[in-house]
Amino acid sequence: MLREVDPEIATLIQAEERRQASKLRMIASENDVSPAVLEATGSVLTNKYSEGYPGKRYYEGQQVIDQVELLAQDRAKALFGVDHANVQPYSGSPANLAVYLAFLQPGDTVMGMSLPMGGHLTHGWSVSATGKWFRSVQYEVRKETGRVDMDEVRTLAQVERPKVIFCGGTAIPRTIDFPAFADIANEVGALLVADIAHIAGLVAGGAHPSPVGHAPVITTTTHKTLRGPRGAMILTDAAHAKAIDRAVFPGLQGGPHNHTTAAIAVALKEAATPEFREYAHTIVANAQALAEALLERGFDLVSGGTDNHLVLIDLTSKLIGGKPAAQALDRAGIELNYNAVPFDTRKPFDPSGIRLGTPGVTTRGLKPAQMPLIADWMDRAITAHDDEQALDRIAAEVEELLGSL
Ligand SMILES: Cc1ncc(COP(=O)(O)O)c(C=O)c1O
Repeated sequence: MLREVDPEIATLIQAEERRQASKLRMIASENDVSPAVLEATGSVLTNKYSEGYPGKRYYEGQQVIDQVELLAQDRAKALFGVDHANVQPYSGSPANLAVYLAFLQPGDTVMGMSLPMGGHLTHGWSVSATGKWFRSVQYEVRKETGRVDMDEVRTLAQVERPKVIFCGGTAIPRTIDFPAFADIANEVGALLVADIAHIAGLVAGGAHPSPVGHAPVITTTTHKTLRGPRGAMILTDAAHAKAIDRAVFPGLQGGPHNHTTAAIAVALKEAATPEFREYAHTIVANAQALAEALLERGFDLVSGGTDNHLVLIDLTSKLIGGKPAAQALDRAGIELNYNAVPFDTRKPFDPSGIRLGTPGVTTRGLKPAQMPLIADWMDRAITAHDDEQALDRIAAEVEELLGSL
């Protein structure tokens, strides 16, 4: 049908499908959803407006949509063990904005991890609305360890007295110490918000400690390790439920994307299975095997390794910037992103590092035994980054492996 109506878009979608299938997709924030999630995303639920919440809508005809949203809420509550789940945020950034709207006034102090150290834009970084409209203080990692130093976080919190503290981020290869953040938040009277966008699937699958019981408010995207559609959720205890619901609607958004809500419900059902638990642990085992193999080939890893799905490489010692390395790797069939490393001396558009993750390749079925092969390809591609023929030869080997799965 699409091909008849719009052959250009149909052809482009097909080309993207082929491109994805032929690549080792190692962007740490991406994944491959299941056919069931994809089907729900492309359903007639996209036709319906449903401003409000189940049982309290501003449009008629919600007999089915209410059931969809309640299912998504119930599954989120059961999977993560929380009192309340709002499944309406359009994506991770609006979910975080809802936190600001719910608990802060413009000019209030918010504390988060700085972007170049691994935090997210929406945790108060200067160019984001969260850094412009609020007084933002940012914690970093220690230069020697590449890890957050909780004593430094405590000192900063005691001096700056933030109303909200964000923990979590977008390029953190190590376990987030939720109990330690909770202690600090309690000491200074701040609300602790855990942004588990990257690790939600690991938390759901028992491969990373849960923030539940430590952070009264938890935000997450649904499309990274959790392997759902592009969307987000806010999970809270009972005390913070109402403020979050009001902030999402009518504070920030209009009608929820019901097709996404249905697909989130499907992903949550999949994430509650024993197979998903195994998947989450394999993601981490793959990342650790890859880190080990990269270290053996002389790569310099931020924090020396990984506890989760993500590896951050400082390429300074390889005498190549992150951008040309990422471009060479892409040509060689390995898709990842260039990334700043802590204390980077280069510019954000041409930083010193690359970031990679194993959620996607684990979904494709790769196991720890295959990670040295990927490290080898990476090493060869970075060494031969100017040699297009050499890069194409690696891409052919990548395709051969993926074709054999
Ligand atoms: C920790 C974290 N929070 C929030 C977001 C924002 O999500 P989105 O891109 O869906 O707005 C991201 C995205 O990468 C993230 O890594």
